[in-house]
Amino acid sequence: MKNNRPKLETTTLWDFPTQNYGDRPHGDNKFNGVTPAFVIWNLLQRYTKEGDLVVDPMCGSGTTIDVAKELNRRVIGYDIAPYRDDIIQNDARKIPLKDNSVDFVFIDSPYSNNIKYSDHPMDIGKISCEKEEFFDELEKVAKEIYRILKPQKVMAWLIGDHWRKKSGFIPVGFKIYSILEKYFKPVDVIAVSRHNQTSNTPFWHERAKRYNFYLRGFKYLIIMQKVIK
Ligand SMILES: C[S@@+](CC[C@H](N)C(=O)[O-])C[C@H]1O[C@@H](n2cnc3c(N)ncnc32)[C@H](O)[C@@H]1O
Repeated sequence: MKNNRPKLETTTLWDFPTQNYGDRPHGDNKFNGVTPAFVIWNLLQRYTKEGDLVVDPMCGSGTTIDVAKELNRRVIGYDIAPYRDDIIQNDARKIPLKDNSVDFVFIDSPYSNNIKYSDHPMDIGKISCEKEEFFDELEKVAKEIYRILKPQKVMAWLIGDHWRKKSGFIPVGFKIYSILEKYFKPVDVIAVSRHNQTSNTPFWHERAKRYNFYLRGFKYLIIMQKVIK
């Protein structure tokens, strides 16, 4: 292993200099919107044990699959547009698993229609977060995650905010939090700093000053528990 091995985070500010760790790849760095593997490593260390079943309903380039396998967890990765053979084609609004059957769910959903993931008509990343429909569709995903999780188990949702010249600021993270709060008990909210953000250039800093907006420097990692009283 290289010296960029992950360390167990103990604060609510997670500041990872790179997407990956170790010598083996986790997901694909070239995938637009890839999740930092450190984030998933940290969550699996804290909330799962060997043999647990981990599910990612929108697993993109497969980062969750790779980290989970390395840690000897069982794992199922779904995506509407599978990027590799070990990813099962499925719409996250209807997950083909039984109620109360999963130990941990990780999801890094689209934040709006800012990244093109696929041409699939059911890709939620085609809907702008300027429309309420975007949040209605993600609420269906939240309900499915709640259904498949075993009681007392935990899920984590990575999400970022949005700014557009026309619509201004949209607090996507807070909106997703308020949806999740309807079903789950909050465990914590983490700020994951974005070292490799593409907007971290002099050009974008100049634009941010000129048009009076802030460059997005972090994402929310919302951690929630399915509590059955
Ligand atoms: C931010 S990416 C996930 C990145 C992934 N965690 C990784 O590390 O590569 C969001 C993913 O959501 C998928 N997606 C969008 N709509 C979906 C839907 N209705 N059901 C399942 N997956 C969907 C996209 O195809 C995309 O791969």
